[in-house]
Amino acid sequence: MTATLIKSYLTFLWHSKNEHGVHSPFVFNLVTKCFYDKKNYDEYTVLKNYRKSLLSNKNTIEVTDFGAGSRVFKSNTRAINQIANNAGISGKRAELLFRITHYFQPENILEIGTSLGLATSALSLGNPKAKITTLEGCPQTSSVAQKQFEEFHLTNIELVTTEFSSYLKTATENCDWKLIYFDGNHSKEATLAYFELLLPTITNETVWIFDDIHWSVGMEEAWEIIKKHPKVSVTIDTFQWEMVFFRQEQPKEHFVIRL
Ligand SMILES: C[S@@+](CC[C@H](N)C(=O)[O-])C[C@H]1O[C@@H](n2cnc3c(N)ncnc32)[C@H](O)[C@@H]1O
Repeated sequence: MTATLIKSYLTFLWHSKNEHGVHSPFVFNLVTKCFYDKKNYDEYTVLKNYRKSLLSNKNTIEVTDFGAGSRVFKSNTRAINQIANNAGISGKRAELLFRITHYFQPENILEIGTSLGLATSALSLGNPKAKITTLEGCPQTSSVAQKQFEEFHLTNIELVTTEFSSYLKTATENCDWKLIYFDGNHSKEATLAYFELLLPTITNETVWIFDDIHWSVGMEEAWEIIKKHPKVSVTIDTFQWEMVFFRQEQPKEHFVIRL
């Protein structure tokens, strides 16, 4: 852990709470019925098997690395099980992402950063009726994810192999993604650029989840700007994830919730 991350985590712990003291019914319900839902869903077994199949795959691929600034700077050989271990969402977070998708039942979902599809599988199982669009720039990583989706019969996913900004600059017209999971380029500039590019797609029900916003000083600066944006009403910081809502009926309020 870097010094920035330790400092952010201590600040988070100091301010965080559980459902007690949360006066907004919308957030209280989300915390008690979704975040803290202890039910053992059958889909968790599928998520575990999806992960297992990647962790037992020692084949190597040539990874096109986009880096934090989104400039392609190198290509290197990596084992699939190593990528699954390092780049993907954790098992517990995949279960939480499943529950969030199951709770809100968004019809259209966008994921920015597929990698091997560990999070995509949670989005797909959370609402099998949803149409999921997931973006990945590395062709060989995409190809492994696509095979996984087929093997696990996750048929509601459209995987687009593309550089993020070129896709987002052209494809956002008439899109109403009710849930967007931002897990690609963890830099301040890219995060704010994607935020602005996607703002025209928001509705009252939209849910945005940003991964790793405390990862660096730059990402924390991006988070402060997002929180203050006039279109943003409720924000929830769970340390690894930050959730953003645009509910017009709700006063602007920031919650810090321990998972
Ligand atoms: C952290 S991983 C995504 C992990 C995935 N959501 C999961 O939980 O399993 C980020 C992915 O975004 C891709 N990526 C990063 N920057 C990109 C860019 N500018 N355009 C396209 N793909 C990019 C990387 O190749 C990488 O596979």
